[in-house]
Amino acid sequence: MKKKVLIIGSGGREHALAWKLSQSSQIGKLFVAPGNGGTRHIAENIGIDAINIDELVLFTKSNEIDLTVVGPDDPLARGIVDAFQAQGLRIFGPTRTAAEIEWSKAFAKNLMSEAGIPTAAFEIFNEYDKALAHVRTRGAPIVVKASGLALGKGVYVCNTLAQAETALAEIMLDHVHKDAGKEVVIEEFLDGQEISIHAFCDGKTHVLLPPAQDHKPIHDNDTGKNTGGMGTIAPVSWVSAHALQDIDEHIVRPTLHALAQRERQFSGLLYPGLKMTTSGPKVVEFNARFGDPETQSYMRLLKTDLLDILEACVDGTLAKLTIEWHSGFAACIVIASGGYPDKYKKGLSLRGITDAEHVPGVVVFHAGTTFDGELKTSGGRVLGVTAIGNTLHDALDRAYEAVELIEFEGKQYRKDIGAKAL
Ligand SMILES: Nc1ncnc2c1ncn2[C@@H]1O[C@H](COP(=O)(O)OP(=O)(O)O)[C@@H](O)[C@H]1O
Ligand SMILES: [Mg+2]
Repeated sequence: MKKKVLIIGSGGREHALAWKLSQSSQIGKLFVAPGNGGTRHIAENIGIDAINIDELVLFTKSNEIDLTVVGPDDPLARGIVDAFQAQGLRIFGPTRTAAEIEWSKAFAKNLMSEAGIPTAAFEIFNEYDKALAHVRTRGAPIVVKASGLALGKGVYVCNTLAQAETALAEIMLDHVHKDAGKEVVIEEFLDGQEISIHAFCDGKTHVLLPPAQDHKPIHDNDTGKNTGGMGTIAPVSWVSAHALQDIDEHIVRPTLHALAQRERQFSGLLYPGLKMTTSGPKVVEFNARFGDPETQSYMRLLKTDLLDILEACVDGTLAKLTIEWHSGFAACIVIASGGYPDKYKKGLSLRGITDAEHVPGVVVFHAGTTFDGELKTSGGRVLGVTAIGNTLHDALDRAYEAVELIEFEGKQYRKDIGAKAL
């Protein structure tokens, strides 16, 4: 019997997951809720929002969906996995309490400090006066974080004391991140290159994906405001097999163990963001789902049927599965709307995607696009242009050749994705 799978979310990550699943001979029908202008070609887009858990449960039951896959963080924090499991429905992702490692930075920091997992030194505050006194004692550089989910905008890397004071006022006095800023984590600034580690987890065992690297700031040379991510490469060749093993032993394994000890067995995808400092890898944060845009690069390299992996995570049979990857490299260049991550226009016409996909090795994943008789922009990050190649250089050349064939008013992208790894 062919299977029906529902993917929840509307970004480039979800298009990439749908693209990979659509190649599985086991799939009968794919649905994406709500999906985007790209997912409509390979799946049926369902007009239900990713956080509308009651509607998603009803849809899953009435359409006899075999497996649901959660893309974004928000539904996990709202307990979508618990709601599905309570109805006997199969779903890929962690429960609400396991996902707390992402939706509360304060929880994650306390867990790491109890379990001896390397991370930036920190203090947690819920009173403005005490937080202010602390940053004044510490001085800059310093990092101020709203503890909760803040659409990727709750972290302030402050080079001056004045910036840190402004950050605290925004979070704790002006409440710009609402309840996500009720608690604030103030931490030591970590220097070093950033990498993304991903692990498939089934509640008992886990398997690491190759290391990836995202590029968070909007402009070249890591300048300007932080974004959701402007481009990725995978694998990162300077991260040796030995270094990866070390990360597994000192970070991933003890984290999963600490969660299990607290009755929060983690199933789904655990994604620690790390800084590779001169005193070793340190955790910047944990995510409880696939990275976006890491997933866009990963899906281009994955050889094994993704459905087999996701089902093994849900069923607790990961130990029996061998996960295989293509050799070579993948790159993803994000094309964003002009003005992003601040205000930007929507509803702009897009041209050139078909031409871009004629470049050898290139696949274009959609993120902020919509179709209303014509393909239009609808978000800040619009497309993820991916390419594979035998070398990182080849992958990047192909991806950039394709990027230049795509046009819409005000398009912006970083010209230096992967440059640090070449
Ligand atoms: N302690 C730190 N030192 C240096 N940079 C940091 C530190 N914490 C976070 N950052 C930077 O800020 C970005 C966002 O922080 P993160 O904790 O990952 O928050 P989120 O992804 O939830 O917005 C990181 O990708 C990293 O570049
Ligand atoms: Mg992050």
